[in-house]
Amino acid sequence: MAQQLKIAVLISGSGSNLQAIIDAIAAGTLHATIQVVISSRPDAYGLTRAKQAGIPTVALSHKNYPDAAAFDRALTHELLQSGAEWVVMAGYMRLLTSRVLDAFPNRVLNLHPALLPAFKGAHAIRDAFEAGVATTGVTVHIANEEYDCGPILAQREVPILPDDTLEALEERIHATEHELYPQVLVQIAAGRLP
Ligand code: GRF
Repeated sequence: MAQQLKIAVLISGSGSNLQAIIDAIAAGTLHATIQVVISSRPDAYGLTRAKQAGIPTVALSHKNYPDAAAFDRALTHELLQSGAEWVVMAGYMRLLTSRVLDAFPNRVLNLHPALLPAFKGAHAIRDAFEAGVATTGVTVHIANEEYDCGPILAQREVPILPDDTLEALEERIHATEHELYPQVLVQIAAGRLP
């Protein structure tokens, strides 16, 4: 049986990918425990999802810290304290500094709604849609100190259809994310890191 993966999930918003991970654990397909959910925004709906699932939560607002280094010191403390072995970013909208990354070497994952290295940045779905490409998709990668740049672990294509709308494409991208991210975690739990 796959080992129990201990993860911390970092969020900033809705947390639908957090929900997909919670659901995969509840369904018994992902052998993991979410040690803590940490949000960079106190009003993130993902915190409610975590509380409903009985997962410990922490809200850290950068406004309470003098600079990014102090913020990441607090974040690293919370992550280490939680007992997590892997850090899973799911819609976390801040860049991690080396303090966090060094505490979890090659064990910080990010999810991006495009086929990296294409369409990096915060508006990847819209950028791909407006560029008129035939195919975009979803990427799971190891995070480093540059946005959307670390080694790629898994990708899944999502076609852009001739009569697509941005909203329809967003829906299919998110549905694809909700499948792919838990699947990558299942592989990691089984010791089969791609
Ligand atoms: C996802 O599209 C993810 O790829 C991006 O942010 C979004 C988070 O959505 N990094 P949610 O908060 O998981 O619903």
